[in-house]
Amino acid sequence: MLKVKELLPVFPEETIQKRISELGEQIARDYQGEEVICVCVLKGAVFFFTDIVRAIGRHLDGITIDFLRASSYGSGTSSSCVVNISKDVDTDIKGKNVLFIEDVIDSGLTMSKVMGMFKERGAKSVKLCACVDKKERREVDIHIDYSAFTVDKGFIVGYGLDLAEKYRELPGIY
Ligand code: IMP
Ligand code: MG
Repeated sequence: MLKVKELLPVFPEETIQKRISELGEQIARDYQGEEVICVCVLKGAVFFFTDIVRAIGRHLDGITIDFLRASSYGSGTSSSCVVNISKDVDTDIKGKNVLFIEDVIDSGLTMSKVMGMFKERGAKSVKLCACVDKKERREVDIHIDYSAFTVDKGFIVGYGLDLAEKYRELPGIY
């Protein structure tokens, strides 16, 4: 059986942590003087979320957190894709700054629909922070405000990312 941990990570733990502290500082600068609700998109973003939120919080007051679980299904094109929110946020986001924290943006379909819904609910601003921007299979023109890493193609696991629910616990990305 293939042992993922024995492979060389594309992004080792130290690289991830260093990049997150830079990115956290940049995000905190952009929200200076504002309050922001950081929304973790479950499950994949969970480890990235806890790290980036604390990195932002070192330089910014007024952060709150919330959680959302969304999945998309359909034929995989933007017009026919349906997004199911199986766990919604608890916060009333009207008039608030919302920052979504997601693991990977692939086709972009899930987050473009979710962000559209939150704009309709009357958020003051809706931004997106992704651990990995995977460009190859993008199907919608989605603006990723902050991304820690970019990969051109391939399937990655670790640091929250799974293959059939496995490998999420690895501290690096493989
Ligand atoms: P999309 O941007 O709507 O296509 O959905 C992206 C979602 O698919 C992510 O949140 C992941 O859960 C999953 N995904 C996409 N690419 C990968 C990958 O390389 N590894 C693990 N999960 C992935
Ligand atoms: Mg995900």
